[in-house]
Amino acid sequence: MTATSPSRSSSPEGAYRDRFTDVMMKTLPAPLAVLARGEGARVWDVDGREYLDFLAGIAVNSLGHAHPVFVEAVSTQAATLAHISNYFASEPEIELAERLLRLTGGRRIFFGNSGAEAIEAAIKLARRTGRPRILALEGGFHGRTTGAAAITGKASMREPFLPLLPGVEHIEPSIEALEAAIGDDVAALFVEPIQGEAGVLDLPAGYLAEARRLTAQHGALLILDEIQTGAGRTGDWFAFQRDLPTGAFPDAVTLAKGIGGGFPIGALVAFGSAAELLQPGQHGSTFGGNPLATATSNAVLGEIERAGLVENARVRGEQLRAAILGIGSPLITDTQGRGLLLGIGLARPVAGAVAARALSLGLIVNAASENRIRIAPPLIIGDAEIDEFTALFTEALSSFADPNDGATS
Ligand SMILES: Cc1ncc(COP(=O)(O)O)c(C=O)c1O
Repeated sequence: MTATSPSRSSSPEGAYRDRFTDVMMKTLPAPLAVLARGEGARVWDVDGREYLDFLAGIAVNSLGHAHPVFVEAVSTQAATLAHISNYFASEPEIELAERLLRLTGGRRIFFGNSGAEAIEAAIKLARRTGRPRILALEGGFHGRTTGAAAITGKASMREPFLPLLPGVEHIEPSIEALEAAIGDDVAALFVEPIQGEAGVLDLPAGYLAEARRLTAQHGALLILDEIQTGAGRTGDWFAFQRDLPTGAFPDAVTLAKGIGGGFPIGALVAFGSAAELLQPGQHGSTFGGNPLATATSNAVLGEIERAGLVENARVRGEQLRAAILGIGSPLITDTQGRGLLLGIGLARPVAGAVAARALSLGLIVNAASENRIRIAPPLIIGDAEIDEFTALFTEALSSFADPNDGATS
């Protein structure tokens, strides 16, 4: 197919879909819609259809779309100094490093451009311990680069690319499995505090605290992947601040997504002596820490602080959970997650069909697996968005109330 292929569809959106399919690598499914603009918790497609966005670019658009603070930060910094290379430093970079270290309690930071890059930096940190084994959890997701894929706990994401990084073992997310696997030859344990891509699944109660105790006992690093859970999304700045005992810290945290609010950025925060593991020349990134990305992230995090959006995520999250359970649908089995990262379990494998029905009604939610819906709205949502979500989601579910409907859709 070439760019001159005739369009097979008549609406503007149909034509864009055809062009997309012709030119993009086949790594992704067909797009759900072709979006043109956004504002707050809403987006519009190229045909002018409006959607309530309860996915926020998969937990990225913390302030929603086209927030004035985001727009101002990008515009002003782009007009001032966008990129300089790692031979130079800039004020936004230093300020963001100080801010993230203050918010996490970390000691040193490395900036990259995505979640997977933050994970790659963390894998290098683990390798610098000189120990051969890395533990990660079944069901965990850490990204699509080869190192991140190696520690991702989903075989279908690893198998087409074998052999991957050696020394990685996937264990079930239970304290017993960790006790059995940990040893003095383990470099690091990688854990998401809440498994996002798996459909927003909680870890067993007390898991992180016990993981902290066991890794410390064996001198292994505890590396928390807060790429999806960080930046206030779970109702705390970082999920570990609720899951670890007061005064306890991980050895490293990976960040991305919500810290940029839509501008690509990733970061590895290292704590205590782990902050000294990477030495001069051992890691780098052309774009990492550039003024445009770091100024935008500073503005996003500053607005989250100023507007009390961490607290909003906590309060609205509980309100949303109550509203979901209040729907009283027999299809809903459970809700997991915290704050504005919630997973809704379904009694039948119809999540894809439910999400498609919701989209046709003007609501964006995500079918993270066959039987789990993930929602991750912008942190700015209030009563109006929750009421609208509840009405639309109720309607979407109602099509599937009969166990004989939709199971094969
Ligand atoms: C927990 C977690 N880790 C890592 C990643 C990879 O981030 P990125 O897609 O920015 O490379 C993701 C992305 O969904 C994620 O949710």
